[in-house]
Amino acid sequence: MPSFPRTRLRRNRASSFIRSLVAENRVNAADLILPVFVTDAAQSSEVASMPGTYRNTLDDAVKLAERAVSMGVPALALFPEVDPALKTPDCSESWREDNLINRAVRRLKAEFPELGIITDVAFDPYNPKGHDGYLVQGVIVNDETVTALVRQALSLAEAGADIVAPSDMMDGRCGAIRDGLDAEGFTNVGIMSYAVKYASAYYGPFRDAIGSSGALKGDKKTYQMDTANALEGLREVEMDLDEGADTVMVKPGLPYLDMVTRVKETFGVPTFAYQVSGEYAQIMAACQNGWLDHDKVWLETLLSFKRAGADGVLTYGALKVAELLQEDA
Ligand code: PBG
Repeated sequence: MPSFPRTRLRRNRASSFIRSLVAENRVNAADLILPVFVTDAAQSSEVASMPGTYRNTLDDAVKLAERAVSMGVPALALFPEVDPALKTPDCSESWREDNLINRAVRRLKAEFPELGIITDVAFDPYNPKGHDGYLVQGVIVNDETVTALVRQALSLAEAGADIVAPSDMMDGRCGAIRDGLDAEGFTNVGIMSYAVKYASAYYGPFRDAIGSSGALKGDKKTYQMDTANALEGLREVEMDLDEGADTVMVKPGLPYLDMVTRVKETFGVPTFAYQVSGEYAQIMAACQNGWLDHDKVWLETLLSFKRAGADGVLTYGALKVAELLQEDA
């Protein structure tokens, strides 16, 4: 009598053909969104804490878009580095028709009509204090901010953004933006809500990239979620869906994959995750030291998002990963 089990799970791991057949999840370029920083500076500049990621002139952003299209990455998420001279307490630069982000949207939509263009709705690039909302006597005021965010969203829709992505975490903003868009005839402009967005320490490199870190005093804990909370995140998602959000996002990604799974299982809606700047910085720093295998770790980390249930991932590694997938194929 052999003392070995009849069932040997290693049989399905024994060679690459069977591993491929039984694989439960795959990473596809089609599931990736590339965040792109844009600048009005004369030249693109690398973000020191994000090796390989740049603040791009519009010409260079077009080149990135071209690569995305050719590799099957379906969408970009744009973030502006705004000239400090244009930052004012009312953040009105955010809805000026000819501002940097609107010029970027128009140019990219003109050159690549099929490429999805997603833009943030929040004031941090425009606020001299680096906050996402209006600061009145030390308090981030909700309703006044939401009214103004609708103006920003409308301006982005007019420029041609396919999807607006409120990342500000004010209460009621999805509903207000939906109503505002619909009233102006932008019924087909989608809302990707940063629904479960934590007050995280992983956003540091992003704030360096857009130039808001020096300005930001304190933290964003009165509007972004406490990292201790999970059930509250489900309430955020429920409310944003009720208010008309088309897709929801969890952010950061890897440290919060539990939320990706819970959101997907609870609501069954298109669920995205944002592998944020600090996550990118961690991986790249370790790779530069020779401590992690760059190609393998990128594919593995993206696969973990898929396994958790993410329909798509915003990642600064989108083009790298798409390239690796092409080499693999
Ligand atoms: C702004 C915004 C942030 C990110 C996306 N939109 C920063 C913040 O909330 O402070 C972070 C993205 C990243 O770290 O890659 N509302």
